[in-house]
Amino acid sequence: MSAKLVVRGSGPLRGRIQVPGDKSIGHRSLIFAALARGESTITGFSGGEDNLATAGCFRAMGVPIEVDGETVRVDGVGLRGLRMPRDVLDCGNSGTTMRLMAGLLSAQRFGSRMVGDASLTRRPMGRIVRPLRARGAFIAGLTAEGKQATGEDPEQKVFPPLSIAPLVEGEQLAGIEYDMPVASAQVKSCMLLSGLYAAGPTALNEPHVSRDHTERMMMELGVPLQTMGTMVYLDPSADWSGGWDGVEWRVPGDLSSAAFPLAAALALPGSRVILEGVGVNPTRTGLLDHFRLMGAEVGQVPKPEGAGGELTADLEVHSSRKPRASMIAGELLVRMIDEIPAACALAAAAPGVTEILDAAELRVKESDRIAEMARVLTAFGVPNEELEDGLRVHGGGELKPAEVESKGDHRIAMAAAVLAMQVGEGESTIHDVDCVATSFPNFAETFRALGADIREV
Ligand code: S3P
Repeated sequence: MSAKLVVRGSGPLRGRIQVPGDKSIGHRSLIFAALARGESTITGFSGGEDNLATAGCFRAMGVPIEVDGETVRVDGVGLRGLRMPRDVLDCGNSGTTMRLMAGLLSAQRFGSRMVGDASLTRRPMGRIVRPLRARGAFIAGLTAEGKQATGEDPEQKVFPPLSIAPLVEGEQLAGIEYDMPVASAQVKSCMLLSGLYAAGPTALNEPHVSRDHTERMMMELGVPLQTMGTMVYLDPSADWSGGWDGVEWRVPGDLSSAAFPLAAALALPGSRVILEGVGVNPTRTGLLDHFRLMGAEVGQVPKPEGAGGELTADLEVHSSRKPRASMIAGELLVRMIDEIPAACALAAAAPGVTEILDAAELRVKESDRIAEMARVLTAFGVPNEELEDGLRVHGGGELKPAEVESKGDHRIAMAAAVLAMQVGEGESTIHDVDCVATSFPNFAETFRALGADIREV
């Protein structure tokens, strides 16, 4: 039986904590270390299940990886050293693993098949299958009815498992110019990873700049890549040795995990919380800008940069009064795409209407996060209206205790816990919280250290 969280209303939160290593940077650190020539050491690794899924895929392709707490040692095999996996590659719950790996695997001389859990099996893969096929990859998924889906019909939906056929001697992926219909770091990174092996350049343009960890790491490793605004250009035929040596990288704390203690601290006036060493890459800090628009300042004390030159800082919240509601849309939404559940939990405390727009992507995350947040907010007595591409949350009222399901989505479970901390009287229960371990293994313990009344049973 899956674990549950039992949470009671909290007074102000106080203390200094660390959050797990950044999940997005963790995946990419493993990928670039596995493809390096020689040994790499990655510190600050989260140990979350999503990152471990990526490690498992590389081990299955002959890359020695040793995980020892927050330190990972990888014996890189070089860009062309991956071996054919003997079995299917299990991506678990991790969309990032599947979409980034698909780019890499499409360029190999061996075939592969990637599977995922029930949630991942419902997530759209046409967004990577189409552009990969357009550059010559042999990749296909399944329709909802279980038939082969190549996405050639633009209306056709493509779901996992994904099957990738090998390129034979003499075949190579082609260069591509691709205008991405949605801003997505997973699609962008998939295309850049496949682009490392292509015969020509990869030129991408996205509607807004999504997180740029892949670009930063590639540039640090000497890959001939340039960015300008929403455009990225990778030309592997340019003056390039065609590989890189092992790295020593530190993964900063995950702002997407920090979002929950930050939101809780702002919702519970009188809180004073410091989060140590959190990544503050500008393509990820939409939540901090949103807080500022709500009238709440989160202090930043710069710390040494993390893997790939990632900006890192200690974050400090001293909350005196409840912040006011504000709108989230457009470019801001893209820069806080994973933080919307946390923002909704804070919106419940903020007098006024928090309007979230341009957020259709949230419907295809680990769950339909618009529908699930609407359901959870309603259970806690927070009035809200579900929109096709967003949500309106009417904040500032009294919350009531609730019993809710996470629906297997880690961020829904954690947002529900932050709502439960704001309830005046009574105990709330969040069911099915094993999923929290995908990104934040010590969630309850971390909140207890801040004085919250939260137990995992
Ligand atoms: C991620 C990109 C985002 C984000 C996901 C992690 C990444 O997805 O929601 O949690 O590491 O590249 P999209 O690229 O689909 O927006």
